[in-house]
Amino acid sequence: MDTAKQVSVFLENKPGRLAKVLSALAREKINVTALTVMDSHEHTVLRFVADDLAKAKQANTKDPTAYYLLARHWLRKQDSAKAIESILESSRQHNLGNGITGVLCYGGGVFLQAIEGGRAAVNELYSHIVADKRHTDVVLLHYEEITERRFGGWTMGTVNLSKLNTSIVLKYSEKPEFDPYAVSGRVSLALLEELMATASIIGRA
Ligand SMILES: Cc1cc2nc3c(=O)[nH]c(=O)nc-3n(C[C@H](O)[C@H](O)[C@H](O)COP(=O)(O)O)c2cc1C
Repeated sequence: MDTAKQVSVFLENKPGRLAKVLSALAREKINVTALTVMDSHEHTVLRFVADDLAKAKQANTKDPTAYYLLARHWLRKQDSAKAIESILESSRQHNLGNGITGVLCYGGGVFLQAIEGGRAAVNELYSHIVADKRHTDVVLLHYEEITERRFGGWTMGTVNLSKLNTSIVLKYSEKPEFDPYAVSGRVSLALLEELMATASIIGRA
């Protein structure tokens, strides 16, 4: 009888924890040959067998992720719903293969985007986004080295800010229309965290 060693990972029952582990394995191109997930009230246990066990153990500890927050103006007024859909579709495809996760909010002519991933991947994507002619005035609002993703469950989640309950926006903004230029990066980040907590982000990975 063949026997194999397995790795057990205890996960907090919070959005994105399982995705974080699986993304780290995907990034390192580790093949998972068997997998079970056991879910209890406080935690989840993920057990898996992989082709390279030593690499699999490392994959989840060595990945300091970089973090960007951006805001930008929207150029084209017409056809914006279709354009946003097309940006999201290609973003999700590209991000999945590059270990990028995040959220794209739009409304009132402004984008607010959070991107997470390895430092090189985030830097490269940022330079592509800045050069994109579909928007202008891209501003880096916040940059931070993180050890844990916030939006690990989304290859690029989305939120229409103009459809939000104004009480959420007013918590973080002087006016009912959120303007990322008028507040600090940390305040924008707090809004994004609130959107996550209130299940306002759509488009799971
Ligand atoms: C608001 C906005 C957000 C974007 N977000 C992403 C993203 O998360 N991932 C991605 O691959 N492309 C994203 N893009 C598209 C990139 O700007 C770019 O078109 C894409 O990376 C292809 O780059 P290339 O045409 O230089 O190859 C975004 C574009 C806009 C306008």
